[in-house]
Amino acid sequence: MTGKKSGNRDCDHKTATRLANAGRNPFAHHGYVNPPVYHASTLLYPSAEDYIAHRGQYRYGRRGTPTSEALETALADIEGPQCEAVALLPSGLAAISAALLSVVRAGDHILVTDSAYAPTRKFCDVILPRYGVTTTYYDPLVGPDIAALMRPNTVAVFLESPGSLSFEVQDVPAIAAAAHARNAAVLMDNTWATPIHFPALEKGVDLSIQSGTKYIGGHSDVMLGAVASKNSTSMRLKETVFEMGLCVGPDDMFLGLRGLRTMGVRLAQHDASAMKVARWLEGRPEILRVLHPALESHPGHAIWKRDFTGACGLFSVVFRPAPAAAVHAFLNKLALFGIGASWGGFESLAIPFDCTPVRSATRWAPGGPTVRFHIGLEDVSDLIADLEDGLAAFAKSMT
Ligand SMILES: Cc1ncc(COP(=O)(O)O)c(C=O)c1O
Repeated sequence: MTGKKSGNRDCDHKTATRLANAGRNPFAHHGYVNPPVYHASTLLYPSAEDYIAHRGQYRYGRRGTPTSEALETALADIEGPQCEAVALLPSGLAAISAALLSVVRAGDHILVTDSAYAPTRKFCDVILPRYGVTTTYYDPLVGPDIAALMRPNTVAVFLESPGSLSFEVQDVPAIAAAAHARNAAVLMDNTWATPIHFPALEKGVDLSIQSGTKYIGGHSDVMLGAVASKNSTSMRLKETVFEMGLCVGPDDMFLGLRGLRTMGVRLAQHDASAMKVARWLEGRPEILRVLHPALESHPGHAIWKRDFTGACGLFSVVFRPAPAAAVHAFLNKLALFGIGASWGGFESLAIPFDCTPVRSATRWAPGGPTVRFHIGLEDVSDLIADLEDGLAAFAKSMT
């Protein structure tokens, strides 16, 4: 856990420069460019007096090492000047659950967007009720009307924008203003845009959550989560994470730190390639709609353009009505797109999905079968050629 004063925070430089430098202090480590990876539990004290007084910068592996401090400082730097604390968690879902637990008490009520990542809902539906916390799901497009859903015991509003399967863009500043007017904390899963494309804390979010498994790691080889906080939420966040004994293994923190250095250029490439593929798919007769907020055709485009500075590699499409077998033929034909969960790595992915079982405030009726793509770092013309083969298999299975 890093407070504002520890490490070398740098809020003056542009994001690319901060990504290259944040959390690094070579001359504290013999001049080596990167910080060492401390595999550590016990920390020894020179004397009984030092031990009793807890003298020294570090105390115990779980309580922080130079490796965790470097990653926390780097992430805080990327989140921007409003960030007061960053907590590292062993997965994105752990970051979501820890952030939620840090703001609720027995008897509280929270509002969660209907478009939330399904395991977020499961945590709210299965775990929180055990501790007397109730959840109401709301239409992600509710905007300032969220005020009407607030109850006297509503303590938090949880957002995910855009929804990571269905891509509704939320009016974050309007929802945050309404929540704050009632003293509710605002939490957001910001994994899609990352703080590079959506400075969540600046837009009114109190606890900004990322699955570091995605673009921070960037290589599909690490599980990691982070919560960045500001204001009064920081104390409770730190306390919750610390008292629950949550911490991240040193090699995973190293991979997160290593991934951060190239995150800006990777994200720019994912964004550019995904836009090319999305536009190409928009012109295909097999596709009814492309759900990508950076496309002018997307219903959330105006808000996305107002609030976001870029996109990533993740978007969905709605096929023209077709049997599941035709979509399976499409997916099975793809040679460059893996079929698998998660996203944010260097490789392209495609999965079929159906939001019907994970909606309660809105009706999921896209008009045809849906597939989510993650556009990786492969050459975009190869990806389009692969998709063309897949669409031919789709068409063939329809005849
Ligand atoms: C939007 C979103 N948030 C959170 C998570 C959870 O992250 P993790 O897999 O690191 O627990 C995911 C995982 O796919 C996700 O897509």
